[in-house]
Amino acid sequence: MERILAKALIDAPTLNKRVQQMARQISEDYAGREILAVGVLKGAVMFYSDLVRLLQVPVVLDFIQAKSYSGRTSSGEVRLLSEPDYLDRLEGRHVLIVEDIVDSGATIQYLRKRLLDKNPASVATCTLLDKPDARRIKVPVDYVGFTIPDVFVVGYGMDHSEHYRNLPYIAALDADEGE
Ligand code: IMP
Ligand code: MG
Repeated sequence: MERILAKALIDAPTLNKRVQQMARQISEDYAGREILAVGVLKGAVMFYSDLVRLLQVPVVLDFIQAKSYSGRTSSGEVRLLSEPDYLDRLEGRHVLIVEDIVDSGATIQYLRKRLLDKNPASVATCTLLDKPDARRIKVPVDYVGFTIPDVFVVGYGMDHSEHYRNLPYIAALDADEGE
């Protein structure tokens, strides 16, 4: 089923430049504090690893694995496949959730609640992509890389049925592709 998607919606140099800007902004905002960066697996893996390498403040790395999509539709129901290592040690920590894309908002709402229950000092959300037209739940998003229309995208960590995650750029999947 996998096809080579040649046309980038967001190419690698553009991604790189924007991730640098985001890292600079986050570093300024968190000056003097340590971040617990919670990457949302698997989609955020590329963005996460590029972002944390550029942060100028102390960072502790952690991950959570969530699933809400099957194929190209959001189920609206979030399942956790793994919890953060730091889940029971969040008190006093500044948590930064690092996501690939905020779509309906269900995942971020679920993760924020899960983490806020453990009394961290703060929880902020950073996403590479935002699809505001697809939002069904209003959630606070503190850092957005790119706002995109409601199209299905793959690459730079994001998948369609586990394919295309390794593309070094982001491409839109046409309606008839990859089914
Ligand atoms: P939400 O819970 O509907 O906001 O969806 C969030 C999750 O669904 C994201 O973290 C992605 O993993 C996945 N997702 C949403 N839109 C896309 C897309 O266009 N391509 C690939 N994955 C997506
Ligand atoms: Mg995700």
